[in-house]
Amino acid sequence: MGALIFDRVRSDADLDAVAALEARCFSNPWTREMLAAELRGSSVAHVFLLRQPDGAIAAFCSCWIVLDELHVNTIAVDEPHRRAGVGRSLMEEVLAEAARLGATRATLEVRESNVAARRLYERLGFSVAAVRPNYYTAPVEDALILWLGNLPIPPGSPS
Ligand SMILES: CC(C)(COP(=O)(O)OP(=O)(O)OC[C@H]1O[C@@H](n2cnc3c(N)ncnc32)[C@H](O)[C@@H]1OP(=O)(O)O)[C@@H](O)C(=O)NCCC(=O)NCCS
Repeated sequence: MGALIFDRVRSDADLDAVAALEARCFSNPWTREMLAAELRGSSVAHVFLLRQPDGAIAAFCSCWIVLDELHVNTIAVDEPHRRAGVGRSLMEEVLAEAARLGATRATLEVRESNVAARRLYERLGFSVAAVRPNYYTAPVEDALILWLGNLPIPPGSPS
């Protein structure tokens, strides 16, 4: 996979790149304005990145960390970087960072037909807790609601 660097959105250029990647990946993408408003208006919203050494964004994950819960809104890996462990690596970093910030469990929704994402989450230990019928549009599809308990305990925490 090479030396990708875990980081977060830091600039307008980062936001442009994340919005462009989001638009390439999803039929109902979050717009740049939505992402910017999230980051401006909410202390629980985070957009984490894996960067190439030249700063270019290979993958991002937008999420909320609320008290003891991580809610993953989106993860996307740029097409040339897929199937090389990048999604897994980013999710592991996000889970560890969320744990450092106090999260003990994680949840997300995924399209039933999204084989790649389902495999990624399954390999990380997520399991299906419920189905939300017709949750998605374009095309209409059920959402699976996944949960992962027991996030990694951050180093230095009281045992
Ligand atoms: C889903 C996504 C983030 C996976 O990222 P990735 O970097 O390609 O995933 P990884 O290489 O880390 O692979 C993780 C696991 O998923 C599997 N996987 C990845 N893509 C797959 C595919 N197209 N078909 C089947 N399995 C796949 C890998 O084999 C690996 O499992 P393994 O450890 O058993 O081999 C990426 O495909 C993507 O950005 N898709 C478009 C956006 C999207 O759908 N996001 C999820 C929204 S909920």
